Amino acid sequence: MKDIKAKILSNKLVGRAYYKMALGAPYIARAAKPGQFVQIKCSDGLEPFLRRPFSIHRVNGSIEILYEVVGKGTEILAGKKQGDFVDVLGPLGTGFSLPLTSSLEPRAIIIAGGIGAAPLVYLAEELTKKKIKTIVLIGAKTKDAILCEKDFKKITREVYVSTDDGTYGCHGFVSRLFHNILKTTESRFETIVYVCGPNGMLKCIAEICAERSFECQVSLEEKMACGTGACLGCAVPTKSGNKLACKDGPVFNATSLSW
Ligand SMILES: Cc1cc2nc3c(=O)[nH]c(=O)nc-3n(C[C@H](O)[C@H](O)[C@H](O)COP(=O)(O)OP(=O)(O)OC[C@H]3O[C@@H](n4cnc5c(N)ncnc54)[C@H](O)[C@@H]3O)c2cc1C
Ligand code: FES
Repeated sequence: MKDIKAKILSNKLVGRAYYKMALGAPYIARAAKPGQFVQIKCSDGLEPFLRRPFSIHRVNGSIEILYEVVGKGTEILAGKKQGDFVDVLGPLGTGFSLPLTSSLEPRAIIIAGGIGAAPLVYLAEELTKKKIKTIVLIGAKTKDAILCEKDFKKITREVYVSTDDGTYGCHGFVSRLFHNILKTTESRFETIVYVCGPNGMLKCIAEICAERSFECQVSLEEKMACGTGACLGCAVPTKSGNKLACKDGPVFNATSLSW
């Protein structure tokens, strides 16, 4: 992990209140693994005082983050221009584990809920580099909150979308789409499920996985302060006691959590 003054290479509006920012941070780009994150000091002043955590969205010599403007820190970030500098600490946390080789052929099912798509594009890229069959399900409340569909379609042909209000893709929760996909796809694979999104969705997907004995890795978006394991402010209850989301996670095996 390093604290870097990174040059903003671009910062573009890509949807309703969503931005993609590319940052010149070659050390972080080299060291990053899918599911890890960075802590960014959004403001040059004291407000907001704490850095904000963002998943590493893509790595390409530089790193990219995909963020939604929800408050003070992200509002300031959205106002940054190409050529400005920001303090970036990373890469942080424990990311996703890729499937191990086994007697059965592995397949990965990636499930993204809303802004939860942010860490999953980089994961999909790494899985397909390893020639692992990858299916992507994207869910959101409504059409304009569906993120990264084009990015995922460049990586895999199997991308399915659902919206809660039926304005795009299948009508209903992404968990229902997951059920339907499982009914219609082959089961000769050893399935591993990767999921990031709101907690309710994570729990629902984890239950379906438990019923079918699929490994399920969930990426949690807990509130964080230091991001490095020093403040103990991001405790997550697990079956083996409290763990820290910023250090032991943000990715956890769903069966290890005390939901
Ligand atoms: C490991 C990790 C990775 C993340 N990756 C991304 C990402 O890739 N893209 C992205 O847009 N966001 C991501 N988040 C959430 C992001 O950190 C928060 O949205 C951000 O800190 C909000 O800062 P703010 O100052 O704009 O809002 P604040 O003024 O701090 O808060 C505004 C609103 O956002 C809510 N909020 C604040 N922090 C979080 C959080 N951690 N999770 C959910 N809601 C929160 C608050 O409850 C409040 O309602 C991630 C969080 C974590 C812990
Ligand atoms: S945010 Fe400080 S210990 Fe996790």
